Amino acid sequence: MERMTSAAAGPSESRFLRACRRQPVDRTPVWFMRQAGRYMPEYRAVREKHTLLEICAQPELAAEVTLQPIQALGVDAAILFADILLPLIPMGIDLEFVRGEGPVIHNPIRSNADIARLRAIDAEAELGHVMHALELLRRELPSAIALIGFAGAPFTLASYLVEGGASREFLRTKQLMYTDGRAWHALMDKLSAVLADYLVGQVRAGAQAVQVFDSWVGALSPDDYRSYVQPYSRRVLQAVARTGAPAIHFGTGTATLLELMRDAGGDVIGIDWRVPLDRAWERLGQGVAIQGNLDPAVLLAPRPELERRAARILDQAGGRPGHIFNLGHGVLPETPVEAARAVVDLVHARQLHPEEA
Ligand code: CP3
Repeated sequence: MERMTSAAAGPSESRFLRACRRQPVDRTPVWFMRQAGRYMPEYRAVREKHTLLEICAQPELAAEVTLQPIQALGVDAAILFADILLPLIPMGIDLEFVRGEGPVIHNPIRSNADIARLRAIDAEAELGHVMHALELLRRELPSAIALIGFAGAPFTLASYLVEGGASREFLRTKQLMYTDGRAWHALMDKLSAVLADYLVGQVRAGAQAVQVFDSWVGALSPDDYRSYVQPYSRRVLQAVARTGAPAIHFGTGTATLLELMRDAGGDVIGIDWRVPLDRAWERLGQGVAIQGNLDPAVLLAPRPELERRAARILDQAGGRPGHIFNLGHGVLPETPVEAARAVVDLVHARQLHPEEA
């Protein structure tokens, strides 16, 4: 709890939310994608007693796990403990998380008939457990710690639905896209409607910002992104924009897609480690904030190397308002907790604009 208090010192509004709006902050805000997970002993202890889906379905448990990294690491934001695949369950998808294999979908979507069977749900009502967890968390968190909701982007969710699980080449997904464009657009239409409602519901329940994870969109060329994905991501992000809560638009392998992703929407663009942060920000312009981008593998490096590389990212951001420090993708299960904490401390040790914040 001591860390929670020290993070809460300083400006009463969260520095994370100020950075999303490109306002000056006293220290660069920092949080990590997948900051609650198997690398933490507290999380593993809960997982010994409950499956991933059980944790997600029980608001008290989801809230407890969400808070674990706030206490252990001293990060500036809490991201709701959930999974991008959760909304697919009420849509009629038979989903299982298999140890060592990841998500498996037993009834994948590969034809027009499959798409027609996908239920267009009322996300706010049918994912009430997610909304309830957010309500609990907002009540428990100090005002300096922001609460982030999230959803998968339409493309990344469609890729799981069509492939039936993880994929390297996304062959079935592209096959559907290229051979039956109408079916593809019908699928993306259905998904983007649900995801827009789901995120708006999360904001109403207490999420102060949301992140849209388009984790696997880097598999696409810019032309395919523009034709098959961008209108649907735009629909989701515009729905969030109308709530007034900031949105982070994140993907990996997106070096050729950054401008198109920005044009689809998002107050903050989340980048992976393959693009230098200063170059990405130059390309995107000063109209957006930027989140990133330490390679998660660097948390397994010797401490001096880790510190050198984390400091380099702060140097690239150059103290400009609108940088949120994060990894370029999720925390790896092999990560030492002390390494994650060292990064938070290093980021918070650098003073920015105390007179303006
Ligand atoms: O960030 C957080 O702390 C919140 C929790 C969170 C989870 N999943 C819990 C989880 C978040 C933000 C996600 C998002 C998610 N889920 C993404 C997008 C982020 C990314 O990594 O690209 C994706 C692609 C998924 C789908 C998913 N869920 C996969 C591929 C896996 C298996 C891989 C793995 O790490 O085991 C999951 C399972 C999962 N979701 C775990 C956690 C903590 C680990 C499994 C476990 O505890 O048994």
